[in-house]
Amino acid sequence: MKRGPELIDAALEGLIAPSFTRIGFSARQRLFDWRRVDSYDLSGRVIAITGATSGLGRAAAERLAADGATVIVIGRNADKSELVAREIRELTGNPAVSVVVADMGDLDAVRRAADQILRAHDRLDVLIHNAGALSARRAESADGIEMTVASQVVGPFLMTSLLIERLAESGPGRVLTMSSGGMYSAELTVDHLQMNRDAYNGTKQYALAKRAQVTLSELWAQRVAAGSVVFHALHPGWADTPGVESSLPTFHRIVGPLLRDVDAGADTMVWLAADDSDPLASTGGFWLDRRVRSIHRLPNTRRSDTPARRAELWGWVGERAGVTVPVPR
Ligand SMILES: NC(=O)c1ccc[n+]([C@@H]2O[C@H](COP(=O)([O-])OP(=O)(O)OC[C@H]3O[C@@H](n4cnc5c(N)ncnc54)[C@H](OP(=O)(O)O)[C@@H]3O)[C@@H](O)[C@H]2O)c1
Repeated sequence: MKRGPELIDAALEGLIAPSFTRIGFSARQRLFDWRRVDSYDLSGRVIAITGATSGLGRAAAERLAADGATVIVIGRNADKSELVAREIRELTGNPAVSVVVADMGDLDAVRRAADQILRAHDRLDVLIHNAGALSARRAESADGIEMTVASQVVGPFLMTSLLIERLAESGPGRVLTMSSGGMYSAELTVDHLQMNRDAYNGTKQYALAKRAQVTLSELWAQRVAAGSVVFHALHPGWADTPGVESSLPTFHRIVGPLLRDVDAGADTMVWLAADDSDPLASTGGFWLDRRVRSIHRLPNTRRSDTPARRAELWGWVGERAGVTVPVPR
């Protein structure tokens, strides 16, 4: 039987707008008396995060550095990444913030980045796949993969596979993947995961990639013992970031005052990286506001999510990434 706070949380989750906006965040924060993300001592932990040059990733990187973690800012633009790392060092007084340059859609760059991380750090506690973008125009990566899929599905899969042994050795390691509530609208598909030029729709392409991210996080969790590495996917609700403002200007204008601020949007990402209770007690969840949520809200997406299609996705992504995934003990 659900208690009062759980009932209120479930009622909020049933209604998308109150749940995803700042209303859901502040209600749950009060209902569940959350531990504050500035109360952790993360000294000695090494955390790598993509997309840390803007929005949610930038907020999370700053919080994690302020809590004492060694932070690796993985960014696609060297100058911007160096500037952000310097600002975070100055703001937090933590000198252990470094930069690794990689466009996550460029598989060679991902391999070089993983190599650089392995050479520079003898432990890796958390890998956060936060980089993401909704692109109005279709583009392809150097490897011939549609860019949303290359940068948010194949590139992260490759990086996880290259770093998983180090995560397990530092264990239990954590791999976090920032998806989106937009994925609720998308079916699981491999044949139509990459939209072709004629049918391309940035919002739909983004949702398809975000659905694939969540599925892959679950599949990793099934393959890797939770005592070695745990996998969590999450979504931030709706937060006011440069990415939302530029890619969804009308949405940003209309929902504007109700959007979460970046710290609220990044809260569950930081908590999953920092907290040693619930985040280490389970694997394969899809989180919003520090709770595991359903990965389906619609019958058609549920129907699309078959074991055969999951296996097909795992095989397809592994082939594109050029890896046979080593499963750590
Ligand atoms: N804000 C929201 O309400 C919301 C909702 C649902 C999901 N999300 C997800 O949250 C994550 C962060 O988004 P945000 O809102 O903070 O957006 P943002 O302000 O645009 O930040 C996105 C970050 O991802 C980086 N990035 C994008 N494509 C990349 C690539 N190919 N390789 C490497 N880095 C790349 C960007 O780098 P540059 O600085 O170089 O551009 C930037 O650091 C994304 O995965 C997004 O899909 C956000």
